[in-house]
Amino acid sequence: MALNIAVDGPVGAGKSTAARELARRLGILHLDTGAMYRAVGLAALEAGADMSDRTQIERVNASADVDVTFENGTQRTLLNGRDVSKEIRSPEASSASSMVSVVGAVRAAMLERQRAIAEGTDAVLDGRDIGIRVLPRARFKFYLTASAEIRARRRMDEMRAKGVDLEFERVLADVKERDLRDSTRDIDPLRPAEDAIVIDTSDMTLEEVVERMLEIVRHKDRL
Ligand code: DC
Repeated sequence: MALNIAVDGPVGAGKSTAARELARRLGILHLDTGAMYRAVGLAALEAGADMSDRTQIERVNASADVDVTFENGTQRTLLNGRDVSKEIRSPEASSASSMVSVVGAVRAAMLERQRAIAEGTDAVLDGRDIGIRVLPRARFKFYLTASAEIRARRRMDEMRAKGVDLEFERVLADVKERDLRDSTRDIDPLRPAEDAIVIDTSDMTLEEVVERMLEIVRHKDRL
């Protein structure tokens, strides 16, 4: 059976960066599943869909072919064959991704894709429902969390590094709004799996988080 590692948690908990680094150190694939929801969100934006209208989102989803490719371990996210890796990082796409991710048909399509990618491949998957839904039998399940303020600050720093300046209050409000939507949706709301190892990253550096995860993986697997 493939070595599958689930990394779940709320926005800005450091999942993506930690998962990417963990995968790199273990020499295995890293799949950012949020990027796939973002691609559907972008498709909905481009179609001018009403985000609160399920039928419209289902229609967008049915014609959105979301795929990923890997170049030297770096994920490229494709929407109908077009590389949208950059566009999906905009604040508009972030918000849209959170809205389309409440729709059952979108979740079903993403679930199928993600399982197909992880099957037979050693991989770290980061997202919201990996441990509870996508890979309930993953060998390791981590749930990373941190206070909303710290997560908003991190998101701001991340965007600033990309040349985008955002206002703290706005980012914090967005983080809280997405937390609420992600954790109260009907299907697979955000929560740690019962057998997940919860790591509060508020006072930890990325290096410390990755070291903690590596220690756990190596200890159990004697890698
Ligand atoms: O991790 P992220 O911010 O790139 O994710 C974008 C949105 O996608 C997020 O608001 C929730 C949703 N998502 C999800 O519902 N399930 C996943 N496995 C990953 C992301």
